Amino acid sequence: MDGSIFVGGGGEDYATKQGLLLKYANRHGLIAGATGTGKTVTLQILAESFAAQGVPVFLSDVKGDLSGLAKAGSAGFKLHEAFTSRAQKIGFEEYAYGAFPVTFWDLYGEQGHPIRTTVTEMGPLLLSRLLELTAAQEGVLNIAFRVSDEQGLPLLDLKDLQALLVWVGENAKELSLRYGNVSTSSVGAIQRALLVLENQGGYKLFGEPALELADIIRTDIDGRGRISILAADKLMGAPRLYATFLLWLLSELFEELPEVGDPDKPKLVFFFDEAHLLFDDAPKALVDKVEQVARLIRSKGVGVYFITQNPADVPEDILGQLGNRVQHALRAFTAKDRKELRQAAETYRDNPRFSTEDAIREVGVGEAVTSFLEAKGAPGIVERTLIRPPSSQLGPIDAGERKALIDASPIAGKYETLQDRESAYEVLTKRAADAAKEAEEAERREAEAGETLTLREFNTGRRYTGTEDDRPASRRRSRKSSDEGFGEAVLNVVVKELKGTTGKRIVRGIFGSLFKGR
Ligand SMILES: Nc1ncnc2c1ncn2[C@@H]1O[C@H](COP(=O)(O)OP(=O)(O)OP(=O)(O)O)[C@@H](O)[C@H]1O
Ligand SMILES: [Mg+2]
Repeated sequence: MDGSIFVGGGGEDYATKQGLLLKYANRHGLIAGATGTGKTVTLQILAESFAAQGVPVFLSDVKGDLSGLAKAGSAGFKLHEAFTSRAQKIGFEEYAYGAFPVTFWDLYGEQGHPIRTTVTEMGPLLLSRLLELTAAQEGVLNIAFRVSDEQGLPLLDLKDLQALLVWVGENAKELSLRYGNVSTSSVGAIQRALLVLENQGGYKLFGEPALELADIIRTDIDGRGRISILAADKLMGAPRLYATFLLWLLSELFEELPEVGDPDKPKLVFFFDEAHLLFDDAPKALVDKVEQVARLIRSKGVGVYFITQNPADVPEDILGQLGNRVQHALRAFTAKDRKELRQAAETYRDNPRFSTEDAIREVGVGEAVTSFLEAKGAPGIVERTLIRPPSSQLGPIDAGERKALIDASPIAGKYETLQDRESAYEVLTKRAADAAKEAEEAERREAEAGETLTLREFNTGRRYTGTEDDRPASRRRSRKSSDEGFGEAVLNVVVKELKGTTGKRIVRGIFGSLFKGR
């Protein structure tokens, strides 16, 4: 089928070829269906076909069963007979086993190349979402980012952000005068949320070398697109991290890729598995932005395919943009199920041969109600389609095979070693030391013995615990007088620092992530 990828066979006898037009593949898509109905295999065959047509693919492997893409299926496999007879039935004459070029990625660096970004690049909006901050806390985080932007303090990893927050907490009064209310209790709450993220392994996501998009938009010398597979089984234990990371990646693609108008085929196809996690109690503002990015990323040549059990999980505005659809069976046990099923059916162009609603209820495993964009980008009439069998192995490869592929990948070694160049943590630590020295001198001038531990605490410990003064009462009493000198010194430093800002406006993108190079 020219200019399209073969998805399966439709029509009365399943022998009419159903294809997804490559030139409309950037108009996004949906793969939905109850558990065990064939979503993962559909994702697998779509990834195979895009790769074969020279389109790079990014997908997350939620259950660990998509690594099989890297290995050819075999006649010895228990479903060999089923696969070949299915291929025959749908008129898929050229069906053959084959392996595909795969790059494995893993946030935790265990099952693939580490994939990282920096805190600065992620930006305050997504980070607030990741940390589940309140509006007030988000406001404070925004101020922290402004301070970092204006003072050129790179936030590479969580350690940098923590150091900056300590600084913000200690200078809350001065910062409030300049930027608006910075409450120390908000600072403390953000710091506690950061600890939770750290405990979930979130620190692994942040640092350098950060991902270069070119490494997920690669074609091999044989012209096939590489399939990037993000190991997401462990990541699923931190669903907010999973969803925010993928959203960051989408926004990054959106910000960084050039406009291409309407390409013959997509530059990249991005599969967003367990997409409901993106929308679960997401604030309206975020959903609006996802909607906006989905609309605009098309012209960058990126097709986004949401995979979810129930299409009702996807907000309407976004669902309306998903032009290419593979709807596997939905169950209708409850009244709510039936209502959702009816609503799902209503979004299709009916086929006079059958009722869409009935078909969605009745289709068998590996069968689906499909609709792809046709001429002029109009949705096609729904079809009951038997989905083609995969060419690559169904199910995972083993750990040894995976390791061999990771070691032999074209980017082997590029991301494996974490680098820690000078950033906010180092700069602020040094500043704090200087400030402490200045403060000590001020104290000496007052010839008064006391202790000024606040900044020194910062220097030695990364944890800021809010406003509590946990020093023994005997020491607390002596604080006031010495604090005046100390506070003055700090104020001087802060004023100096604020004066030293470049005044440069940092341009942030739609999700508040950083614009580079434009
Ligand atoms: N296109 C297909 N060709 C041949 N067999 C298929 C096809 N689709 C599904 N199957 C069979 O059905 C099984 C279940 O499919 P799959 O794993 O894709 O379901 P799923 O919807 O992803 O389920 P879950 O929600 O549990 O992840 C497969 O292991 C395979 O045996
Ligand atoms: Mg699945």
